[in-house]
Amino acid sequence: MRKMSILAMTDPVLYNKYNRLQNRDNKRCLSENVARMTWRSGDRVLDIGSGDGSFTATELRRYLPDDVSELVGCDRSREMVDYANENFGGDGINFRVLEIGQHIPREFIGSFNHVFAFFSLHWVTDQRLALSQVYDILTEGGDCLLLIVGNFPAVFDVYKVFAQTAKWCRWVKRLDDNVLSPYHECDDPEEKLRKIGEEVGFKKMFVQCNQSTYKYDSVEDFKSMIVSINPFNIPEELCDEYLEEFVRVAKEHRYITDDLIITYTTNTFFGSK
Ligand SMILES: C[S@@+](CC[C@H](N)C(=O)[O-])C[C@H]1O[C@@H](n2cnc3c(N)ncnc32)[C@H](O)[C@@H]1O
Repeated sequence: MRKMSILAMTDPVLYNKYNRLQNRDNKRCLSENVARMTWRSGDRVLDIGSGDGSFTATELRRYLPDDVSELVGCDRSREMVDYANENFGGDGINFRVLEIGQHIPREFIGSFNHVFAFFSLHWVTDQRLALSQVYDILTEGGDCLLLIVGNFPAVFDVYKVFAQTAKWCRWVKRLDDNVLSPYHECDDPEEKLRKIGEEVGFKKMFVQCNQSTYKYDSVEDFKSMIVSINPFNIPEELCDEYLEEFVRVAKEHRYITDDLIITYTTNTFFGSK
């Protein structure tokens, strides 16, 4: 298996290989909800947190009308954006660096008719800020479809265990600072999201929390997923040990079963401006 690099979450090749769970859930979210959106000829579309760009350019593209004028993917990671442009750019699709939660350049404000975000906005602890920036990016009458990670014990609860250990707390820390999903262990994520959406000004909202399961083919497969979304600077020489212990803790607490099944939730948010 490939060694974990520093900030592996920005490794597009690795992400491209281990994004089956996200792909499956994103397609389900689109097929169930894309009909809520109102389309006009020449609309511009933004996909926030487009990662390696494969989902944006291949799968998301299929759900959009043919007369969309532009499909832009954005990501906070320059490596992801460069990889996405090289491999999936062109033909009305391009990728830009943009970080939700930070300053949004003027040219993005009020300039997209539709905004999507899959498995990316949970990284922003301040959800009110995240949703208000999505709102600002939309044109009047525009709409958004967001799939936001919720309760994810097989990842977040292991981070929480690690953060309490003398061995790993040097690196696994500041979990409330853009690491844990704000909807992890939240009693009523639908209510929380709906309230934020209302405060921001969204109309015609639809909010739904879905529980899902996913079965990994092997322990290596599970470890690779952990690496591909890892936000911590674990030193390279400790990576094997980190992953071994990750699996041990996840199994011990039943965050992953012996059959390698995990249970987690995602939140779907639709709203229009
Ligand atoms: C798990 S990947 C999801 C990629 C793709 N949307 C998918 O579903 O396959 C999350 C991506 O979101 C990006 N990301 C995380 N926080 C972000 C933020 N605040 N603004 C923009 N991109 C962000 C990460 O760099 C990463 O590439």
